[in-house]
Formats: sequence, C-alpha cells, structure tokens
Amino acid sequence: MHLTLRQLNIFQAVATQSSYTRAAEELHLTQPAVSMQIKQLEDNIGLALFEQLGKSLFLTEAGQELLGYCERISEQLRDAEDVFDSMKELTRGKLNITVASTANYFAARLLASFSQEHPDVKLSLKVTNREHLLKDIKINGCDLAIMGKPPAELDLNATVFMENPLVVVAPANHPLCAETNIPLSRIAKEPMVVREQGSGTRFSIERFFHNHGLSLIVSAEMSASESIKQAVSAGLSLGIVSSHTIELELETKRLQVLDVENMPIIRHWYLVHRKEKKLSPIALAFSEFLLSATSNKPRN
Ligand code: PGA
Repeated sequence: MHLTLRQLNIFQAVATQSSYTRAAEELHLTQPAVSMQIKQLEDNIGLALFEQLGKSLFLTEAGQELLGYCERISEQLRDAEDVFDSMKELTRGKLNITVASTANYFAARLLASFSQEHPDVKLSLKVTNREHLLKDIKINGCDLAIMGKPPAELDLNATVFMENPLVVVAPANHPLCAETNIPLSRIAKEPMVVREQGSGTRFSIERFFHNHGLSLIVSAEMSASESIKQAVSAGLSLGIVSSHTIELELETKRLQVLDVENMPIIRHWYLVHRKEKKLSPIALAFSEFLLSATSNKPRN
C-alpha cells in the first residue's frame, strides 16, 4: 500500500464535507483533481471509500476505517509540531552529556542548576574515565563531553573553561603536613594511591613526574577518586587527586593538601564535541550556561 499524506488530506476533506465539490473549494483544487486523487487512493487500497446514493455521498466501511486512521495521524502530526516548537523554544528535548569521572564533582551540580531553568529537558549524564569517554565521543554517544585536554589528532571542537589542579593529599596527622615547599624528589619517595591506567588524571601525573626526571611509586590504583580519598584518610599512603574532588574533606579536615614544590599540576577542563556534530538548541544553551557559570577561568 502506497499512500501519500496529500491523498489522506484530500480524503479527509471529502469525508468531512461529504462532497467532492466542497472539498475542492476548501483545498483550492479543481473538482476533477480531487476525484482523481480519491480514485488513486481507492486503487491503492483496493477498496471503495465512498458510495454515491442519490445526491448524497457516504463513506463505505473501508472509508470509515480510513477516516479513523487519518484523524489519529493528524493528531500525531500536531503533537510532533508541538514538540518541534518547544524544542526550538528550548522547553523540551534531551541532553546527553558524558563527563570524565573527576569532572562529575562539579558537572552534576551544573546540570542541576541548568535543569531548574529548563525543567522539561530530560538530562542524561554518563560518568566514565578519559579512555572510555573518547570512545563514547567516537560513536556519537553524547551531545557534549567534559574532559581534560582532548587529543589533537581527533576532529573535536574543544573549549577550555576551568582549571583542574591536581594536588598531593595526606591524612591530617601525616608528618609532611607540617612542612612547606616539600621537594618533589622527597614526594617521589612516598608510595601513592593514584587513578587507574586510562584515566586522564593518571596520565598527567605520570607525565609530570617523568618531566621532572622522577617516577611514581604506586601503592594502589583505584578507578574512583572517592576510593582514593578513603584509602588516604585511612592511612594507606599519600594520594594525588584533583582539588575539585576534596572540597568536603578539606572542610572537615579529614585530608590536607601538601605544600609541594612545582605543584599543583595545573590541568584544564574542556567542553568538547565532534566538529561535524550539529548541536541541538538545548546543547547550545547548556554550553553557554556552562561557560558563563564557571567563574574559575584558566590562568592562560
Ligand atoms: P579522568 O578525567 O582522570 O577522570 O579520566 C580527566 C581527563 O579527562 O583527562
């Protein structure tokens, strides 16, 4: 069966007017054009849709069925129009964001405030490490991503919006807490709890130590900053985490940031999407919101 919306439109006009002539007037068509479209429709379906009894035009049983479908189709199209209108006005739609695990400490809060301004926008937040996040961007799994500096070889649009300082943390009773300007070589002798391979944070720490001619002694690797903080405050060893993740622990004095020479390691957060991706009005609104909400702009 091959029907066109135009044919259904004409059929609906004839059915509601009970007349080819009045339907033709309503649609600004000639009466033969209307009759021809109805004839084609009947041929297509293989059943008569109207019967002429005397001067009156009636719907056949098949015609009545078709009219029911037409009404439902019109209703659906009106709904679709409403949805598109509200998408244009940013009141509806879906926003898919993927963030690097470390960014989740501020991303969820930002999404919550964005959602207060756009209560009918459905939000989906995926949290994963840098390696998996890059895979997600490749398969077009998100509208926008928040991550550390993305690799230059990927065709991405990346806007830096905030600093991400990495710091050495210790439990508040650790002897090094009392010292200032601790040499990096001294810190390198201490075992460290760090993030897993594949994490952007881990990659930066290793590169930083390597650039200073040092290497890390890893006491444990963990895939969540939460676990690193727990392990450090329980006395496992020192740890290195993003300062975004320890706000609460510093307030409650469960952890302390050590004063280490050449630290913190300053990284940056980037808002990222594929260059060829056509951002929805909601994704554009979120990126504007994020860039204006993040007051802690980078130093360079
Ligand atoms: P991650 O994030 O350490 O949680 O992977 C930082 C990044 O994207 O570089």
